[in-house]
Amino acid sequence: MTKNFYITTPIYYPSGKPHMGHAYSSIIADIFARFKRIEGYNVLFLTGTDEHGQKIQKEAKKNNKDPKKFCDEISETFRSLTKILNLTNNDFIRTTEHRHFKSVNEIWSRLIKSGDIYLDKYSGWYSVSDEAYYDSEEIQEVDGNKIAKTSGSPVEWVEEESYFFKLSSFQTKLLEHYKKNKDFILPQSRRNEVVSFVEKGLKDLSISRTSFSWGIPVPENKKHVIYVWLDALTNYLSALNFPDTKDEKYRSFWPADVHIIGKDILRFHAIFWPAFLLAANLPLPKRVFGHGWILSDDKKMSKSLGNILDPIEIIKNYGTDQLRYYLVKEVSLGNDGSISMENLRNCINNDLANNYGNLCQRVFSFIKKNCNNKIPKINNFNENDINLIKNIKSNIPKLVNLINNQNLNEYIKMVVNFSFEANKYFNDSEPWTFKNKDPERMNTILFTIVEQIKNISILLNPIIPSSTKKVLDTINISDKDISIESIKKDDILDCSLELKTLDILFKKIENDN
Ligand code: MSP
Repeated sequence: MTKNFYITTPIYYPSGKPHMGHAYSSIIADIFARFKRIEGYNVLFLTGTDEHGQKIQKEAKKNNKDPKKFCDEISETFRSLTKILNLTNNDFIRTTEHRHFKSVNEIWSRLIKSGDIYLDKYSGWYSVSDEAYYDSEEIQEVDGNKIAKTSGSPVEWVEEESYFFKLSSFQTKLLEHYKKNKDFILPQSRRNEVVSFVEKGLKDLSISRTSFSWGIPVPENKKHVIYVWLDALTNYLSALNFPDTKDEKYRSFWPADVHIIGKDILRFHAIFWPAFLLAANLPLPKRVFGHGWILSDDKKMSKSLGNILDPIEIIKNYGTDQLRYYLVKEVSLGNDGSISMENLRNCINNDLANNYGNLCQRVFSFIKKNCNNKIPKINNFNENDINLIKNIKSNIPKLVNLINNQNLNEYIKMVVNFSFEANKYFNDSEPWTFKNKDPERMNTILFTIVEQIKNISILLNPIIPSSTKKVLDTINISDKDISIESIKKDDILDCSLELKTLDILFKKIENDN
């Protein structure tokens, strides 16, 4: 039986070029997608761009461009970022595509049919840059400007005719859902925030705008465009050929297993989205995971502070695997985390070059020099060897569980530790001392260490895919054997083949670089 897994990133506003925050959401989702694939799942990994709304219309105007043309250009930079980050997304959705129009129209008409939409007048605060409505308590005045307390974005007073969604009538159902599904919102701290927000009571939500035109028109009243968040959230269904609920993709992948998002858009995903789906009589996603913010030298990245980190620049200087590894090793998923170039260099040097990289290089060159460049055949392990090998194999259920709970930091810690242990084993066992006096012992040590390198490389593969692929290629492990299953097996290494040549995996970085 095929096991399916559907994971999504937020779809990004193509209002400016991609930055580190976008790269972060995408890399995390890619790591989970890759892990589920090597665990044997049929994975659908979706990303894309969120192209409607006032924010995009304004930005296009500022650039003297037609909004569609503007989106075409910037969406392309997000698409090319997927290649630069080495993402394995199977699809890239744009909300200006026809498949998405169809699906949003269907959601709208389901909400009309269920009686959850009514026409009224909205008057209140709106932030164009957050594309969000705010209550007066959520607003503060700084230097004579009204801004939203949470995001700091400017807000403006809006009064216009609007369709409303009866969000208030979903309060009980949502609370029941959170109660029954303890892991619907993760991490737990975010879940608590959402629950207490909903417990305070929900107001109906304005879901259409009339003061601009860049959006999907309300089917029965073309004066209105559908609120960009109702439009955007529906992308997760559009990619499954919704409204055709008989379609293979829809049937295989809905409900989604996890929506990976940033904490700033939790309310939209953990309150609005499930309420829309309940009203539309569709199943709810299994999980919404809200990660924290990437801070640049302890501060939120912003144009005005000039501290925006460009992932493409960093990758040019240090490499894709290096950035992927650093982001997930250093930032505790779920919390905010500061990144700096100095820490990035230290992380590359210590974890990648000195630990994993060095282990592979020295073992392979030893084999080349002393064993005709082939992994030696053996059959008599001692207790030490067995314990080392067993340690990874017996921890597989724990590692899988950590990933299934999005506990990426604990996962990496364990794998890095395996690599430290392997290095220590190689040093302490001193295979070079056995070359003449006991070649069989030397061979056993080498076989054991290559087995460890294979297993560590498979476990690191979702995080640093291209470097681990090079290592696994060197020891002749084919793509089909890059799997969790092959860690459990004892007969994957082929001792009849010569090792391929491995170039330096991670260059050490001088600190004044
Ligand atoms: N278009 C909406 C999402 C719609 S999903 C149906 C949106 N787009 S965004 O481009 O502004 O942001 C997308 C994601 O990037 C969000 O999850 C946001 O949290 C993340 N990040 C933006 N800046 C960030 C950091 N500095 N750090 C980490 N992630 C942050 O919101």
